[in-house]
Amino acid sequence: MGKFKYLLAAFVAFALVVYQKIAIDIVEPETMPADVCWGSVSGPAKDRSNAKEIRPFVINVTTEVIADLKDRLSNARPIIKPLRNVNFEYGFNGDHLAKIVDHWLNRYDWTVRQAYLNSLPQFKTNIFGLDLHFIHVKPPARTAARTIPLLLIHGWPGSVVEFYKIIPMLTIPVDGFNFVFEVVAPSLPGYGFSEAAARPGMGPAQMGQMFVKLMERLGHEKFYVQGGDWGGVITEAISKLFPERVYGTHSNMCSSTSSLTLNDYVKLFLGTYWPSIIVSNENEKSRTYPLSKMFFGFLEESGYMHLQMTKPDTAGVGLNDSPVGLAAYILEKFSTWTSSNYKKQPDGGLSKFNTDELLDNVMMYWVTGSMTTAMRLYSEYASNKYQALPHIKANVKVPAACAIFPNEMPIALALKKLLNRKYEKLIRVTEMKDGGHFAAFEQPRLLADDIWSTIYEMEKIRLNSI
Ligand SMILES: *[C@@H]1O[C@H](CO)[C@@H](O)[C@H](O)[C@H]1NC(C)=O
Repeated sequence: MGKFKYLLAAFVAFALVVYQKIAIDIVEPETMPADVCWGSVSGPAKDRSNAKEIRPFVINVTTEVIADLKDRLSNARPIIKPLRNVNFEYGFNGDHLAKIVDHWLNRYDWTVRQAYLNSLPQFKTNIFGLDLHFIHVKPPARTAARTIPLLLIHGWPGSVVEFYKIIPMLTIPVDGFNFVFEVVAPSLPGYGFSEAAARPGMGPAQMGQMFVKLMERLGHEKFYVQGGDWGGVITEAISKLFPERVYGTHSNMCSSTSSLTLNDYVKLFLGTYWPSIIVSNENEKSRTYPLSKMFFGFLEESGYMHLQMTKPDTAGVGLNDSPVGLAAYILEKFSTWTSSNYKKQPDGGLSKFNTDELLDNVMMYWVTGSMTTAMRLYSEYASNKYQALPHIKANVKVPAACAIFPNEMPIALALKKLLNRKYEKLIRVTEMKDGGHFAAFEQPRLLADDIWSTIYEMEKIRLNSI
């Protein structure tokens, strides 16, 4: 096994180097026609007369859907017992899953949860043929503070549910700041209550193009943008493709991997002996080295990615049919990506979260039947056609900031020296005190504080230069 591991590592490292071309500096205009229709072409023609309308939306799941869910939960086949003395090392622990399912069936009250999810104003509007769902929260009407539009973008297997705690922290004025945010948080196409594309090609850049259109329709020609996970990738695409629309970008998953050169890989390897040629502080060093730890950690955790990049329609069938399977698949990520050490705990560390809130996020996929269409984003991103788009390897030229959470997956190589090259106007890189991948959901206060401070700095620079 040991030998096999090293062979595999060498092979993947080799493949990575071969596929990385020199980072390019110029974004050629990409053909992303604005009249593209992503919607169903074979179904009955939609009434387009009110397509541009922004319609208030209230989540209202039928009693049939909830009754069917309860049926499936109570008739689910017995969950396989975990091996003796095993927690989450083999995947989601069956004993803990049984507890979650029991909570879902007997204590999770959809009427209450739906009212909670409807506590933030939501809307739908049709963009490029797809009905897009979004949360839109404006600051209180009588505030003296200047309103700044902020686009918040989620990822997989998250949803807008991740943002319910952080949105009020951004839209209510804070002492010491003369501005406040108006937040727009869309569900990605194919996720939750946003309609899925009916034809191939809906990658992060295309989603970004839809969101720029959405902001425009809401009256915001220019705005700030924030995201993690796919939200971070979409944020980056918007910043590169529509820089004239973006005041600045904030990401809690900055990644340097798309712009690495052969030279960087050599430095990364040499950094094993002379870390300071590539890392800037102790945090970066302990995240990055030994490389084998980072690499095998990635190998262990990235099976889902390969599967979703290649066979989303197969993998999605079971998840869309079994709520128990869906919860295991989604919540395993909330365990491992919050901290890789959680694998060694009987509850996968999930007890730190509110179980209702975890299930709210699962419900976003269940009641909308959207897991398959959500997973397709991986396939679109991995396609040769998408990877050949010139913006992928380009630099980010708008003001940018990175919040680095200590338990985020280190494979993104969010190292200052590399980020400084990729983000030409890097205003801040913040080593956050605590938290992992689902930062808005897990550490809303820390993330909100960093967004406030970042945009304060960016606005100071922007307003001084006008
Ligand atoms: C959901 O729809 C039903 C039936 O139309 C209605 O009685 C109920 O008030 C709605 N609930 C919400 C939260 O809008």
